[in-house]
Amino acid sequence: MIYSLFDLSGRVALVSGAASGMGRAMALGFAEAGADLMLADINTEGMENTAAQIENLGRCVLPITCDVSQPDLIRTMFNQLDQEYGRIDILGNVAGEGVLARPEEVTMEQVQKVLQSLVIGRFCCCQEAGRRMLAAGKGSIINIGSLASITALGRGHIAYSMAMGAVAQMTRELSTEWSGRGVRVNAILPAQVINKGLKARMEADPNLETTYLNGIPAGRLGVSDDIKGLAVFLASDASTWITGALVPMDGGNLAMNAGGSRAW
Ligand SMILES: NC(=O)c1ccc[n+]([C@@H]2O[C@H](COP(=O)([O-])OP(=O)(O)OC[C@H]3O[C@@H](n4cnc5c(N)ncnc54)[C@H](O)[C@@H]3O)[C@@H](O)[C@H]2O)c1
Repeated sequence: MIYSLFDLSGRVALVSGAASGMGRAMALGFAEAGADLMLADINTEGMENTAAQIENLGRCVLPITCDVSQPDLIRTMFNQLDQEYGRIDILGNVAGEGVLARPEEVTMEQVQKVLQSLVIGRFCCCQEAGRRMLAAGKGSIINIGSLASITALGRGHIAYSMAMGAVAQMTRELSTEWSGRGVRVNAILPAQVINKGLKARMEADPNLETTYLNGIPAGRLGVSDDIKGLAVFLASDASTWITGALVPMDGGNLAMNAGGSRAW
């Protein structure tokens, strides 16, 4: 049984990036807390899999194949949401990708592609969800940022960091504009959470995992399920006075002085 403050029964959540990783975990977390779901991803097969798990929980679910770097497709998806559910209470803005390239080498096309996906895509979803939530006088938006939203990563993350920095400001601006009208906007900033891409990079460079772990006092990398509790908290009435917050999900990475700490 769900403690009532965290209960999402009767609410509708849209989660992008729901075919895998943190989007999938977030969607399942919302469904476990009682919400009905709309899922968005470019990976139709993965999303069907997530949808089947949500159905098994007894919740309604509608998977929509949608590239969230394309505003027209986002708007079409929200029209489908209006027809199917007629409301949106929660937005989980998770999908979107970066590119790795040194600042002196990255092309403007690469930068534009990352900004289109992570900034325009996230903002268009916020705008479509926000319009509907403002009309209803309530709602919770959760943007996935990164520690790259507020610190520099190096290692070729320039385009990704510029985009994630924009996600932090998008969150603060929207919270400032909308919170007085019932719509909260928060962001989760993860450190390294194991996914397919990260696994491949760690396999290619045997020292990489140790490098990452040196920056994580908790002593392990993140896993997708780490986002479940935090996402349900931010979506639910347990967090009604929390808005405009950038919440690190990082095993203590941000708290630690990068140059001055070592194990005893
Ligand atoms: N994993 C990490 O270490 C980490 C850390 C900080 C931030 N993030 C961010 O969190 C988000 C989720 O990461 P993850 O680790 O769960 O990744 P993941 O690769 O496991 O999942 C991303 C999902 O988004 C989908 N997707 C990608 N581009 C899309 C698009 N244009 N339209 C629709 N769907 C699209 C993919 O198909 C995939 O299902 C990403 O924005 C990522 O940049 C990840």
